[in-house]
Amino acid sequence: MIVLACMKKVVLSGIKPSGIPHLGNYVGAISYWVGLQNQYDQAIFPVVDLHAITVPQTPKVLTEQTYLTAAIILASGIDPKRSIIFIQSHLPAHSELMWLLTTISTMGELNRMTQYKDKIQKTSSTEGVGVGLFTYPVLMAADIFLYQANVVPVGEDQKQHVELARNLAERFNKRFGKTFVVPEPILRKEGARIMDLLDPTKKMSKSDTDSGCILLTDSPEVIRQKLMRAVTDSGTSIKFDPNRKGLHNLLIIYKVLSGKTESQIEKHFAGKGYRELKRELAELIIAQLSPIQKQVDRYMKNKKRLDALLKDGAKRADKIAQKTLADAKHKIGLI
Ligand code: AMP
Ligand code: TRP
Repeated sequence: MIVLACMKKVVLSGIKPSGIPHLGNYVGAISYWVGLQNQYDQAIFPVVDLHAITVPQTPKVLTEQTYLTAAIILASGIDPKRSIIFIQSHLPAHSELMWLLTTISTMGELNRMTQYKDKIQKTSSTEGVGVGLFTYPVLMAADIFLYQANVVPVGEDQKQHVELARNLAERFNKRFGKTFVVPEPILRKEGARIMDLLDPTKKMSKSDTDSGCILLTDSPEVIRQKLMRAVTDSGTSIKFDPNRKGLHNLLIIYKVLSGKTESQIEKHFAGKGYRELKRELAELIIAQLSPIQKQVDRYMKNKKRLDALLKDGAKRADKIAQKTLADAKHKIGLI
């Protein structure tokens, strides 16, 4: 207990600038991080651009999305003085530690990653798949280990990757002596898997930018339209029931954003129809996103300020990262 109390507790999570961040990212990750940053001694949130390029990106679009993602994190309430926000590729230590970790990772364990399996299935065979998509979870482990993160808040889809990181940390420590903190994934009790509005059997995702995905940059009009078209069912009562997937997804979003309990929500919507739920949910989302969007616009119009904040973040991050990297190299026996 005494040892625990003395140890600095670190929380870390990342987001890929591979598209425009969406409501699933906000509900499952970013809004969760905002609450967590005050509960830990250090909170670190890299924009992981090296992960984004594991699938083809258009260079100019990638640059813009990287700025946009950083601006959204900041505008959502991550405090750049208290927390560390930076761009992953600004720190060579991530790629360097990744290389060291690939030497203790096995083909078999990477082959078992469901996200990789899903992604290769979706890629047309003529395009081929980059090796980076396969080794991606090792880079993610490096992101986590460099800062000795104790907890890693993620959405459901990333839990398996954090578990792989745990195994790698334990393996490295066993082989070379205690070097890395073994990280723990934490998931938001609700909202860790927000579903597509048009197909509630699949998660809302950046790769499907159709009308089933609410982008954090969508205008109020577009948000209303997308919600009105959301798939529900032929029932009438508004009740939390995981089997009624479309309705349940809308209610979970409502619950997380409103902070109300399930019984309060069911009572509120008693005798009302799906149309009313969609209408109220749209207004709730718009009310939360509007101030964030205004702030994002300000950042995007002042890239100098954004650059300065990110540079400062990278500097602070590098101090921590270099220490861990040097220790790992030394333990392996590199001169
Ligand atoms: P990504 O956009 O893949 O970089 O994801 C950034 C964070 O958002 C990760 O913690 C993901 O697990 C989380 N996330 C992505 N999609 C969803 C979703 N549909 N519901 C909840 N969390 C999500
Ligand atoms: N792989 C994560 C995703 O796709 C993003 C990520 C990269 C990450 N490095 C991380 C998340 C480290 C948590 C910790 O969402």
